[in-house]
Amino acid sequence: MEEKEIKRMMQEKFAEIYGGEGELFFAPGRVNMIGEHTDYNGGHVFPCALTLGTYAAVKKRGDDVIRMASLNMDDAAIREMTIASASEKSGSWTDYPRGVIWAMAEKGNTIDTGFDVLYYGNIPAGSGLSSSASLEVLTALYLRELYGFDKVEQIDLAFIGQSAESDFVGMKCGIMDQFASAMGKENKAMFLDTNTMKFDYLPLALSDAKIVITNSMVKHELASSEYNTRRAECEKAVGMLKAKYDIATLGELTPEQFEEGKDLITDETIAKRAKHAVYENARTFAAVEALKNNDIATFGKLMNESHVSLRDDYAVSCPEIDELTRWAWDIEGVIGSRITGGGFGGCTVSIIKNDAIDTYKDAVFAKYKEQFDKELEFYVVDPGEGAHKL
Ligand code: GLA
Repeated sequence: MEEKEIKRMMQEKFAEIYGGEGELFFAPGRVNMIGEHTDYNGGHVFPCALTLGTYAAVKKRGDDVIRMASLNMDDAAIREMTIASASEKSGSWTDYPRGVIWAMAEKGNTIDTGFDVLYYGNIPAGSGLSSSASLEVLTALYLRELYGFDKVEQIDLAFIGQSAESDFVGMKCGIMDQFASAMGKENKAMFLDTNTMKFDYLPLALSDAKIVITNSMVKHELASSEYNTRRAECEKAVGMLKAKYDIATLGELTPEQFEEGKDLITDETIAKRAKHAVYENARTFAAVEALKNNDIATFGKLMNESHVSLRDDYAVSCPEIDELTRWAWDIEGVIGSRITGGGFGGCTVSIIKNDAIDTYKDAVFAKYKEQFDKELEFYVVDPGEGAHKL
């Protein structure tokens, strides 16, 4: 659906469900090109925002009632709460916006009246393209706009969203997804140092190639508990490496330093996790350097290496996605292909020459259907704008 149609549909449904008209807002999902599981390790990431994301139509009320509904739920049923009860967990999807109301208030931005909101998202849920981050950043954005929280800057929308996810929902995520959703720019990727929060926008100049996202249709349901485990493993590695290095995160080590100190890590699994975090950070630097030099081939090679490391050392892939990447690497015109996002299912991101995209789609679709009895979905994407009012 085109954005114009989505806006019309949102207003129609808003009028049906609540009556009247809402103000419209949008926050995008993201795809990460390289730099995976580095953001909570003080490393670098290289995501871009998508044009897919989550929309909200919202209107302030005069009392303390908050009503939320989502067109992505079968019944689009209204969930009702009060300002006071909004910061209690409910176990439903509303925990994301509830978490944002809570995180906003923690920063001194308390709402004084309730509101009616209707959400609609066009990112497939569980696909690893950050539908939850887009919902959080979107909620932070409309709260800021509606209630005049004018000290909240655009980048704060990311911190508030991350706090909602990490401290309220309980998935101890890094900052990448919310950052990309809040700060994205059309046709640009963001090279972010998660240690200092310094960042650069870089054009994703791929000349005769495009970014192709392939949805494995494996939902990453295990992701949150395994994710928190990986994070804890990396923290343990830092603890052991402290005997030699004065570091707070793995992102502070070069691969050479890691090699010199790695024997301090007495647990084999933890050593593998740490190796990924350190080398992936170095790969992200190298990939951005390659892109600046218009060397897309090297960028693609580093994407492939990233996948191998996520598969073998970080263990966040799954058999379906490992097959998919293996097939992709063998197809002429595929420059690079890897799992993207938190892992355990979700999507791959590939850079594919324009004239090979159809061949790629046909080949992997058929094989995947035969082997896993699932139908792949493809999205050929251009980087989009960060969260904004419509
Ligand atoms: C999830 C998290 C991010 C990041 C990625 C892995 O998407 O929300 O913070 O850690 O996984 O790179």
